[in-house]
Amino acid sequence: MDSGLRQRLAAYLEFQRELGVERLRITPAALAPFAPPPVRDAPAPAFAAAAPPRPQTPGPSAMPPFHPAPASDPVSPSPRAPAPSPSGSFASAAAAPVAPPADPVAELVRIRADLGDCTRCKLHRLGRRQIVFGAGNPGAELVFVGEGPGADEDVQGLPFVGRAGQLLTDMIQKGMGLDRAAVYICNVVKCRPPQNRTPESDECAACSPFLRRQLLAIRPKLIIALGACAAQNLLAYKGSLASVRGRLHPLALDGWNTQLLITYHPAYLLRDPSQKREAWKDLQIAMRFLGLPRA
Ligand code: URA
Repeated sequence: MDSGLRQRLAAYLEFQRELGVERLRITPAALAPFAPPPVRDAPAPAFAAAAPPRPQTPGPSAMPPFHPAPASDPVSPSPRAPAPSPSGSFASAAAAPVAPPADPVAELVRIRADLGDCTRCKLHRLGRRQIVFGAGNPGAELVFVGEGPGADEDVQGLPFVGRAGQLLTDMIQKGMGLDRAAVYICNVVKCRPPQNRTPESDECAACSPFLRRQLLAIRPKLIIALGACAAQNLLAYKGSLASVRGRLHPLALDGWNTQLLITYHPAYLLRDPSQKREAWKDLQIAMRFLGLPRA
């Protein structure tokens, strides 16, 4: 067994162990993720230093792309699925479709410039060190949206670099078999709320136009909302997070249609590791939708 294969297999087994899986059936399908990795996007370190995006077509060794499944399948966006309620922060009057940006990198640079040294909400005077805009591949098919920067992110200026970020990296890399740099990661609010409290609605309202513009610049096939704050800002819903996770939700932003998947925030998973299994089910829905090799 070559050393790269051994490393990927070890990382996968470790991830499954962390999920509480004690026995694995070794079938050809279970080994599929350890085929040589498909040629995916060259990692773009952080958007500031990003190269122009490249297409994210799975390479020849990837599993066949997902085929439409029965309507009850959580991966098939159901035509009966409720449209996002117009009461969320992302609500907009039925807007004429906005054309995709010719250059997502330039558009992200423009959005960051427009954000400036933001003082639009009170977070700017509540101890933030710097704005944490977002990082990753401007051409990503998959964008993760968290809540807001924590202490480590506030120091480094990058999203999800603390303990929760390490778990998110494991979910992306060990779980989904993607390079973290192939996806894009950002938050609803770009400044650290004091004591890592949940961002308040006025803070989300001030920042969400920038999140919206980021998503419209990148236009991913799939957005994964991490936790209730991100979920509520992207899709107004009633009830618990558990009631909306586990399936795809159609999401329309300015006439552009994408899909939203909601899962638990990694910080919550650190507090309650028994929920990692559920989060793993969500990631598998994402993998299937994106046509990634299945575990
Ligand atoms: N939690 C979040 O929601 N976002 C981060 O960037 C870090 C922790």
